[in-house]
Amino acid sequence: MPSFSSSPAWQALLAHRDALAGKRLSDLWDEDPQRGAQFTFGCAGLQVDFSKQRITAATLEGLVALARERDLTGAVGRLFAGERVNVTENRPALHTALRGEEHVLVDGQDILEDIERGRQRLRVFSNAVRDGQWKGATGARFTHVLALGIGGSALGPRVVIEALGPENGAPQVRFVTNIDPAELDAAIDGIDPATTLVVVASKTFTTQETMGNAAAARAWLVAALGDEATAKHMVAATANAQAAVAWGLPECNVFLFGEWVGGRYSVWSSVGLPIAIALGMGAFERLLAGAHAVDLEFRSSPLDHNVPALMALIGIWNRNALGAPTHAVLPYATRLQSFVAYLQQLEMESAGKRVDEQGNPLEFATCPVIWGGVGTPGQHAYHQWLHQGTDPVSCDFIVAARPMGSSAAHHEILLAHACAQSEALMTGMATMESHRACPGDRPSTTIVMPALDAFQMGALIALYEHKVYAQSTLWGIDAFDQWGVELGKTIAGQVLPAVRGADAVLHPATHHLLGVIHKLASGT
Ligand code: F6P
Repeated sequence: MPSFSSSPAWQALLAHRDALAGKRLSDLWDEDPQRGAQFTFGCAGLQVDFSKQRITAATLEGLVALARERDLTGAVGRLFAGERVNVTENRPALHTALRGEEHVLVDGQDILEDIERGRQRLRVFSNAVRDGQWKGATGARFTHVLALGIGGSALGPRVVIEALGPENGAPQVRFVTNIDPAELDAAIDGIDPATTLVVVASKTFTTQETMGNAAAARAWLVAALGDEATAKHMVAATANAQAAVAWGLPECNVFLFGEWVGGRYSVWSSVGLPIAIALGMGAFERLLAGAHAVDLEFRSSPLDHNVPALMALIGIWNRNALGAPTHAVLPYATRLQSFVAYLQQLEMESAGKRVDEQGNPLEFATCPVIWGGVGTPGQHAYHQWLHQGTDPVSCDFIVAARPMGSSAAHHEILLAHACAQSEALMTGMATMESHRACPGDRPSTTIVMPALDAFQMGALIALYEHKVYAQSTLWGIDAFDQWGVELGKTIAGQVLPAVRGADAVLHPATHHLLGVIHKLASGT
């Protein structure tokens, strides 16, 4: 198969882009006022409006031809069938199996039974914590969950709990991710060890930040409650049961998931335990159901109506044909405030790659910088850059049709601003006063959720997961490894003894920097 950039379909798309170059986005609307309906697609209850993208019917045809040429349909089949799509780690990526009911084989073993057993254990344990059957060392009910984890072992539960919670009377979840001690200090401030359950989420059970926080949390519990606190107050979500047991947890406190679940795709596994405790297993299962509904569409919809595939293709159009180096995600929902961070990990850790699956350097750009934040506050900050900055950018707006709080009137204002921003970015404004002029022609997609509920959250997350997989397939990269994060970890291991004052062989730049830090720390 020719590489993405030299493929005939891509060359045809570049010629099509050049032919479209003289047209503004608003011209496309003038020519066809019906394009709203033509370019809006439903997916698992979500409506995805691509009509403010710089696309015509011919663009979509060309993009779908590219997807066919890159055998996207075959790649989707391989993902769901459990083939080893994580090439460099020689593993399948079967997060989809966690939300389905299908028999899938890994190394000749059917994994469905394990998945169902895992779900059943989550159900029993989360119910027991919620209704007070599983109690702490003093016999008190749990009022708080301290959720320790980083990256994919924290971002998913955090996004979902923020979006859907809190629930009155249910245990409140506090997340601790960073090894910065201020984070754990703040999280345990004002809570009682006797009523706190600690969930340590780590696929590997070796991540320095999480294990450091787990040790500190254990010391906090044991100091207040004695040695038996660990068994009563600490549980783990991990793929490495052996390490969790060696660390001191009873086997029955370990909620296992398979090595075939990627860290940033793990919210559907036992990593979702804080969700089940905070919101109930019913909510967690509705989350899984929403994601599964998107899985079904991704597997079966024809490419020209396949929303995750279209999101991927339009992303590639913006990145590789129109040259947008950044992509802003703009949820008009305070409850989705962590969703941008979630997508930064999902998209940039998956697709921030410079070689293809065979290790050959790429001749084209891959993942854009993903950034953004919640509207309307962003309108009083970086939206200025969106409207009048010098760089091309594409945006995703995310709105919920129904109010997310008590005031319908406030929700109306929120919606008015979301609609206005995408219109303003598209149309711009011409005026003789150049400092006021907005060039417009900035493309955006708007995802409309009927409501911010568990099913739609599952659908939203899965939509982006499959967008990432589809883009990686088109670019020919491995979406499931993250080797780039290793170098910094290795160097940190070499630097730490020197930070602590021991002799160590350091790069002169690091030696210099540590000297500055040590000097300021000692106040000299
Ligand atoms: O930063 C690399 C990474 O491996 C992420 O992919 C992962 O989500 C995170 O670290 C946490 O890893 P673990 O779940 O093994 O603690």
